[in-house]
Amino acid sequence: MLVIPRAVTYVAAAPLAFAGTVLAGVAVVAARVTLLGSLALAIDRALIQARPFAEVTPLLVVASAAGLAELGIRVLGALAAARLSTRVLGQVRARLVAALVELGPGWLRGQRAGRVQATVGDGVEALQGYVSAYLPQLAVATIAPTVLVLLGIVIDPPAGLAAGIAAVLLPLSKPLWTRLVGDRSRAHWEAYATLSARMQEALAGMPTLRLLDATGDRRAEIARDTERLKRENRSGLAISLIAYCLATVAVGLGTVVVTVLAGLGLVSGRIGPLTALVLVLGVAEVFRPLLELESFWSAGFRGRAAAEAIDEILGAPRPLVMSAGSEVSAGSGVVSGGCSASLGGPAVRFERVSFTHPGSAAAALVGIDLDIAPGETLALVGRSGAGKSTLVHLLQRWYDPDQGRVLVNGQDIATIELTDHRHRIAVVSQDVHLLGSTIRDHLLLARPDAEDAMLLDVLHRARALDVVAGLPDGIDTPLGERGARLSGGERQRIAIATAFLSGAPLLVLDEATSALDGRTEAAVMGAVADLRQGRTTLLIAHRLSTAAGADRIAVLEAGRLLEVGTPTALARSGGRLADLVAAQVVFA
Ligand SMILES: Nc1ncnc2c1ncn2[C@@H]1O[C@H](COP(=O)(O)OP(=O)(O)OP(=O)(O)O)[C@@H](O)[C@H]1O
Ligand SMILES: [Mg+2]
Repeated sequence: MLVIPRAVTYVAAAPLAFAGTVLAGVAVVAARVTLLGSLALAIDRALIQARPFAEVTPLLVVASAAGLAELGIRVLGALAAARLSTRVLGQVRARLVAALVELGPGWLRGQRAGRVQATVGDGVEALQGYVSAYLPQLAVATIAPTVLVLLGIVIDPPAGLAAGIAAVLLPLSKPLWTRLVGDRSRAHWEAYATLSARMQEALAGMPTLRLLDATGDRRAEIARDTERLKRENRSGLAISLIAYCLATVAVGLGTVVVTVLAGLGLVSGRIGPLTALVLVLGVAEVFRPLLELESFWSAGFRGRAAAEAIDEILGAPRPLVMSAGSEVSAGSGVVSGGCSASLGGPAVRFERVSFTHPGSAAAALVGIDLDIAPGETLALVGRSGAGKSTLVHLLQRWYDPDQGRVLVNGQDIATIELTDHRHRIAVVSQDVHLLGSTIRDHLLLARPDAEDAMLLDVLHRARALDVVAGLPDGIDTPLGERGARLSGGERQRIAIATAFLSGAPLLVLDEATSALDGRTEAAVMGAVADLRQGRTTLLIAHRLSTAAGADRIAVLEAGRLLEVGTPTALARSGGRLADLVAAQVVFA
């Protein structure tokens, strides 16, 4: 049987719908048994006892009613199954999204985004057949045959036992299959997810692939992955077919044995003609639910592997997420105030922070001790790979430090509810993904109740009104996926407008490495200068001019903090900053 423990918790999302689906399955068997039983009685009365037709008619009416009832029950069962799958899939999707949000970009980075996408999309879809067809049928195939076999044993022990043995042999042969097939289902999913991830990577990296003239290599890899998936598909089908054939043979043999036993019983006088008829007609009903379960095998096969992939995401260790309403220290000016918030900016403190990226041999940060005063702008500078982004990611809780703590207003951020914490940080960079299909959609994410006047105000403060003016439908112009229609500098100004709107008091600025044209650069710099007012800012600086505008500069090298001080003090000290400036390696 293709059952995984987590499936039970999925089904628990809609216990009534599950019970309804199972009940309908059992009721179908009951209706068919009633139909066959009344037919057997009718045949017995009409042909064997040669009773008047009037005595047979009621039985035929019962048989017809049972047939009609079966149809009705099947419809109700289908409705219950549909409700079950809608509920379960909805809940699983919601749990996956919540898990991915809590796991955050740090976790997603380590995974293949394509695999996660395959799981969240097709994986959840694959669960549909598993949850709404396979699992309920598994329950029906356990309950109905058991009851019928017991009835059979009461009616005629030899035939009942024979049917029982055949019915038990069918599922008992399963563990063998499950071991074989279980692995295959995993291999099938593996092949599918790999291909899916590869396709997505290739699509996302198309410009790079073209540049490197590597599309041919990628195509060959994709062809290999496709071949592997085809093989897995084929072997899955073959196994399914063999299993179904074996089941049919077992059922056929069981039916033959019961029929022969009934015949012998009739000849020897052990049972009467009615009992013989009931046995011969009824034996099919013992096996029907089991055969139906076999026909759902494919749904079970795909669903089980998908459920395991979903499990991996749901079960991944998450950063501490406290219950809603956990305390956020006073004065942080969290979103509530929106763009009119009275900001002071919180104090930030990195306390002996060390961190190594998962799977990486070298530490990205070692024993960082750094204080940022409320409202201060601190520029981080250092060579590529020095750990600037990592430090900022720790502040955003993409990751938690291996050692040490990050404090905001004296509170360890690991003890603050994750969403509250992330709400009070605004990130401005050229890589900011514009979510939502239009600029309005994206802005409203930061403040759903913002009115047009407020949106125009923040766009004005972000020097982004000209960006909007250049679009055919203004802020309602469709932007394409991730804001593809906008340039880096334009996206950056939309990010600044979003930051104004959210009122987040802590600002992370990732300066663009590529130069903007003079006018755009001036616009962005002006908007950023306004945005920094009243906020505590951590700025990743790539240019001397930007770093020089900060209150203090922190120089990182190979994950260590070399020096911190005001731009003038550091330039004068002749220390590492002066070296880096002289060597022109920091400010590329
Ligand atoms: N996801 C990751 N997995 C493993 N190692 C990583 C990961 N991200 C960064 N690193 C490593 O951590 C170190 C610090 O990287 P980080 O991105 O913080 O540098 P940076 O100072 O931001 O560099 P740049 O100026 O090039 O952006 C580097 O050695 C890098 O190779
Ligand atoms: Mg970086």
